[in-house]
Amino acid sequence: MQQTLVVIKPDAVERKLAFEILARFERKGMRIVALKLLRVSPDRAKEMYRVHEGKEFYSRLMGFITAGPVVAAVLEGEDIIEVVRLMMGATCGREAQPGTIRGDLGMARRYNLVHGSDSEESAVREIPIFFGGHEMLDYELLIDSWINGD
Ligand code: RTP
Ligand code: MG
Repeated sequence: MQQTLVVIKPDAVERKLAFEILARFERKGMRIVALKLLRVSPDRAKEMYRVHEGKEFYSRLMGFITAGPVVAAVLEGEDIIEVVRLMMGATCGREAQPGTIRGDLGMARRYNLVHGSDSEESAVREIPIFFGGHEMLDYELLIDSWINGD
């Protein structure tokens, strides 16, 4: 079973969409392993978006992700990294398919509501930036074997 990091970005929290977005993942059948509200520090922001350092939009991205509270979560499920990315939609809201989070709820490229790890390697790197092991709960739900079944 895979885990992924989801961050509901400051624009979504400002727009009171945090639980609308989380609810989409929950309704899909994803298991919440960890959840918290926090303000991303500049150090954490640098770690999170290390791969974008040096890009033209990097400093504006740093300003955005540290601008206000975010909701961070670790979600778990079969192939969850790819499924979360599909549900998020393309980076720019204007290009994202209707039915996706970005396609339904936003128009911008930078202010695009939600982050999801883009690979297993990214997930393994990003989860510890936001959560210590003691903040993640290991538990069983009977329904999970049915949701993730063939
Ligand atoms: P994320 O990492 O946040 O899940 O988003 P993503 O994979 O869809 O997009 P990525 O290319 O990794 O870009 C990271 C975030 O930087 C902002 N961005 N701004 N040209 C721009 O101004 C620009 N391009 C990207 C977005 O907030 C994007 O999600
Ligand atoms: Mg990315």
